[in-house]
Amino acid sequence: MPSRELSLVDNARRAGLARPVQVLAVTGGKGGVGKSSVAVNLAAALAGAGKRVVLLDGDLGLANVDVFLGLSPRYTLQHVLSGERTLDEILLESSQGFQVVPAASGIAQLANLDAPAHLGLVQAFSSLAARIDVLIVDTAAGIAHGVTQFSQAAQQVVVVICDEPASLTDAYALVKVLSRQHGVNRFRVVANMARSPGAGADLFHRFERVAARFLDVVLDFVGEIPLDECLRRAVRAQRPVLDAYPASPAAGAFKKLAARADKWPVPAGPRGNVEFFVERLVQRPAVHLEAVP
Ligand SMILES: Nc1ncnc2c1ncn2[C@@H]1O[C@H](COP(=O)(O)OP(=O)(O)OP(=O)(O)O)[C@@H](O)[C@H]1O
Ligand SMILES: [Mg+2]
Repeated sequence: MPSRELSLVDNARRAGLARPVQVLAVTGGKGGVGKSSVAVNLAAALAGAGKRVVLLDGDLGLANVDVFLGLSPRYTLQHVLSGERTLDEILLESSQGFQVVPAASGIAQLANLDAPAHLGLVQAFSSLAARIDVLIVDTAAGIAHGVTQFSQAAQQVVVVICDEPASLTDAYALVKVLSRQHGVNRFRVVANMARSPGAGADLFHRFERVAARFLDVVLDFVGEIPLDECLRRAVRAQRPVLDAYPASPAAGAFKKLAARADKWPVPAGPRGNVEFFVERLVQRPAVHLEAVP
């Protein structure tokens, strides 16, 4: 029989070696800029690269990840919040090898979650920690409480912009509120619907010039997704473009983005906020801590 000391050491080692879960919130301020498209295709690309991915539909009141993937959820987060089902029980398997946490549409209780309920939801994900590598949260448009809470709770905030004045002003407002009120000061920016190669980088620089001047934030340009009719067709076919048109320019761009995202370091320790999988960060041993560059 192992001694008590030995089992304590073993437990500590097991806890210490717990792999951190990377959490990406995909957001952007404005509606229709491509947040769900980026979230769904990033999930498909990372799953395709062998990662165990869960995609959370964080648009709690107007769910549409299920529609993007042609899934018909029987149970949703509504049933988790009411205590009828566990998070595990509502997980759906996508055809692309990742799992989906579906939200519900038109349920006011979900759309207007108060802070304690939101915290409970974030904490509920800890039960999945040992089985997943990446959690992607597709957030709603706007800067309402649900969006800022999910973004703050994520380890990486991915801001999707496109070449429309309202996209830039709304993304600016979102970055401002997240940095000033929620302690988020690093953002990964994706330029979507780029009309020509390089147009996304130009758009990013326009955004950065304003944001970096007035806000104390770090913005990383992490890639552009071309305006691609294949993506539109894939949405209509309720499939990720990676699956429906794997050779399309958009699919190639998502694969590149996923390869990049795969290298983003998980922050070294908890940041003192409501955070997904916070206990994994607390348990990581010092030798494994990485500095965020
Ligand atoms: N790169 C692209 N090329 C062509 N069409 C695109 C591209 N990205 C998005 N779209 C189109 O724009 C539509 C809106 O995209 P999507 O639903 O992903 O945006 P969203 O930001 O999640 O919107 P909402 O704020 O309503 O949740 C999609 O249905 C798709 O047809
Ligand atoms: Mg969406």
